[in-house]
Amino acid sequence: MIDQNERAKILIEALPYIQRFNGSTMVIKYGGHAMVNEKLKQKFALDIILMKYVGINPIVVHGGGPQIGDFLNRLSIKSEFIGGMRVTNKEAMDIIEMVLVGKVNKEIVNLINHNMGMAVGLSGKDGNLVTARKMKYLKKKDGDQPPEIIDIGMVGEIVSIDTSLLESLIKSDFIPVIAPVGAGTNGETYNINADIVAGHIAASMKARKLILLTDTKGVLDEEGHLISTLKDDEAAYMITNGIINGGMIPKINCCITALADGVKKAHIIDGRNEHAILLEVFTKGGIGTEIIRSQS
Ligand SMILES: Nc1ncnc2c1ncn2[C@@H]1O[C@H](COP(=O)(O)OP(=O)(O)OP(=O)(O)O)[C@@H](O)[C@H]1O
Ligand SMILES: [Mg+2]
Repeated sequence: MIDQNERAKILIEALPYIQRFNGSTMVIKYGGHAMVNEKLKQKFALDIILMKYVGINPIVVHGGGPQIGDFLNRLSIKSEFIGGMRVTNKEAMDIIEMVLVGKVNKEIVNLINHNMGMAVGLSGKDGNLVTARKMKYLKKKDGDQPPEIIDIGMVGEIVSIDTSLLESLIKSDFIPVIAPVGAGTNGETYNINADIVAGHIAASMKARKLILLTDTKGVLDEEGHLISTLKDDEAAYMITNGIINGGMIPKINCCITALADGVKKAHIIDGRNEHAILLEVFTKGGIGTEIIRSQS
C-alpha cells in the first residue's frame, strides 16, 4: 500500500503534463490485439475519460484484427496478410465492416459512455471523414527488377481526410471513436489499416501526440530488447532489413508520416499494461517506444 504522501506526490507529478497538454488533441490507436480482456478494456476507457476531463481532446481509432479473424473463421473464410495488411475480398469486406463498425466500435463507445464519458462512434464514411482508394501493394524484388504489384483486394489507402465532423464533435466535448473503414469516390467500401487511419487523422488534426497501443512492449530490436527512443530514419532501416515486420510495418510508417506532417511525438506502447496511456502521458518516465524525427 502507498501512504498518503506518496499518493499526493503521484498526483502532483501529473500537474506539469496536465498544464502542458491542456487543450491539445491526442490520437490514440487502440489495437485489436490489446483489446482482448475485459479488465484491460475497462481501464482503457477510464484513461480516455480522464484525459478528456483534464482538458485533452482524445480521438480514438480502433483496430480489430483478432475480432475480424474470429468471425471470418466461423464463416470458414481464410485470413491472409501481406506486409501487415489483411488481404480483403468483397465477401470478407462485408464481414470486416460489420465487425469493426457494428461490434468493436460500439463496444468501445459503450465502455466509455458507461463510465460517464461521452463517446460517439463513427466510421470513415460518416461526414466523409476518410476518402480512400484501392491500395497498390508493391512487393520489392531482388536486384534491379521492378517491384511486383500485388492485388490485396479492398484494402484502401487514404486519399483525403475531412475533419469537419471531428471538429464539431470535439467542440461539443464528445470523444470520437473511429472504425477504420472508408469510402471510395464511387461509393465502394475499403478496409484501411487502423494505424494508417490514426496517423492521417493525427496529422490532419495537428495532434500533439499519436499513441499506438499494441500487444508488444514497443519496438523490439533483433535481440528482442525494447528500444525506448527510435529515430525515424533508423526505423525505416529496420523495416528494410526485416527486424520490423508484419503488423509493426504500418505502425512505423504511419508514425514517420505523422511526424513529418507536424505531429509532435509518436509512441508505440504496450496496451496489455493496465493504464498504459496514463503512464505515458502523465508521468516522467513514459513507457514503450517513442519515435522521433532525426532532423527537426
Ligand atoms: N521489431 C518489432 N518489434 C515489435 N513488434 C514487432 C516487430 N516486428 C514485428 N512485430 C509484430 O507487430 C505486431 C503488432 O502489430 P499487429 O498488427 O499484430 O497488432 P495491432 O496493430 O496492435 O492490432 P490490430 O491490427 O488488430 O489493430 C506485434 O505483435 C509483433 O508480432
Ligand atoms: Mg495491426
